Amino acid sequence: MIDWNEFHEDTIDDNSAVADQPAEAPQPAPQPAAPSAEAPAAEVRDSAGAYQVADQDRLARAKQSLEELDVAAGLEELEVGAARIDVDDKRMINARADLNQLVPFKYEWAWQKYLDGSANHWMPQEVNMNADIALWKSADGLTEDERRIVERSLGYFSTADSLVANNLVLAVYRLITNPECRQYLLRQAFEEAIHTHAYQYCVESLGMDEGEVFNMYREVPSVSAKSAWSLKHTQSLARPDFHTGTPETDQELLRNLIAFYCVTEGIFFYCGFSQILSMGRRNKMTGVAEQFQYILRDESMHLNFGVDMINQIKIENPHLWTAEFQDEVTQMILEGTELEIAYARDTMPRGVLGMNAAIMEEYLHFICNRRLAQIGLKEQFPGAENPFPWMSEIIDLRKEKNFFETRVTEYQVGGALSWD
Ligand SMILES: [Fe+2]
Ligand SMILES: [Fe+2]
Repeated sequence: MIDWNEFHEDTIDDNSAVADQPAEAPQPAPQPAAPSAEAPAAEVRDSAGAYQVADQDRLARAKQSLEELDVAAGLEELEVGAARIDVDDKRMINARADLNQLVPFKYEWAWQKYLDGSANHWMPQEVNMNADIALWKSADGLTEDERRIVERSLGYFSTADSLVANNLVLAVYRLITNPECRQYLLRQAFEEAIHTHAYQYCVESLGMDEGEVFNMYREVPSVSAKSAWSLKHTQSLARPDFHTGTPETDQELLRNLIAFYCVTEGIFFYCGFSQILSMGRRNKMTGVAEQFQYILRDESMHLNFGVDMINQIKIENPHLWTAEFQDEVTQMILEGTELEIAYARDTMPRGVLGMNAAIMEEYLHFICNRRLAQIGLKEQFPGAENPFPWMSEIIDLRKEKNFFETRVTEYQVGGALSWD
């Protein structure tokens, strides 16, 4: 038999607005918090049940302030024309069209990616980590070389996704002057938060040393070199006085987009991703590998969105894409590739998981060619082949349109993915 009095007291004890009332008395249903801390809840309404105004003067001042609001002057602050939006006025950068009006769309690809990204939604806690915890804690579950790969991957990625998110929100967002692209950027920023959450969730589940993992980007040279390279390309844009509108500053924005989308998300993620996914294919650390697989699906869309943005900016501003600038950007992508090769050597001093640093080098040359070609630049390693065709298959598994169905099926069988 339930003691309703006891149940009721327990319930209202959590409500500070009524917690001071005598415990023995029959309790009224919980009321909204009283407007004044001193006024007992019972006096909020008069005997007829009408509620009161706590402070007539305050309400009068609010009404007076609204009477004085200059609506026209407020809208002028938008610094855009008063006319309704014309789709032809929309631009990727330096637009004069109202940024608060999402439609009519000019860039359907951006809106479609926002829809596809939202259809791929997932959360880290949905992945079962039990097998990983048992394997990680068993004395002979993984070799030293395999443990090193898990530690380095979580070390790099646990902060890299924060670098990407900060660059998006603090540097890129305000400079991309198109509402449908901004809609995707907001989606991407949330996905980066989910990725950082996923790495934190792996670190916590495995009981790893959080201080060591989250400081690896400061303390381990092959990791910190990559992070420092990315940070170098966000610094000028993150300054509050940075504005686009000149060829020099517009090129600076393009450099940032190429550094983050093509190099950080397009090259720096690929050694670690292929190592962890190779582990999953060997039925080791399958929970971590599943998290990485969902992240890779998201990242491949971030990369494609970035490539579309970069190419659209080129189309609208052909004067920025000079031979000299193309040469500089090619160098940047080569630098990124070299940093990732150094990371591969550091994380794989010997052969492990059916891979080694030399095979990874060819894979990264293949990836480098792809990134160059995607933004219309010449391949620097003609003939480099993909030694990991299964990586492409995993990326292609994305298939945005039926991902949700796939995911539901996978979750129904206990969260395990197939690793054939
Ligand atoms: Fe990410
Ligand atoms: Fe990303």
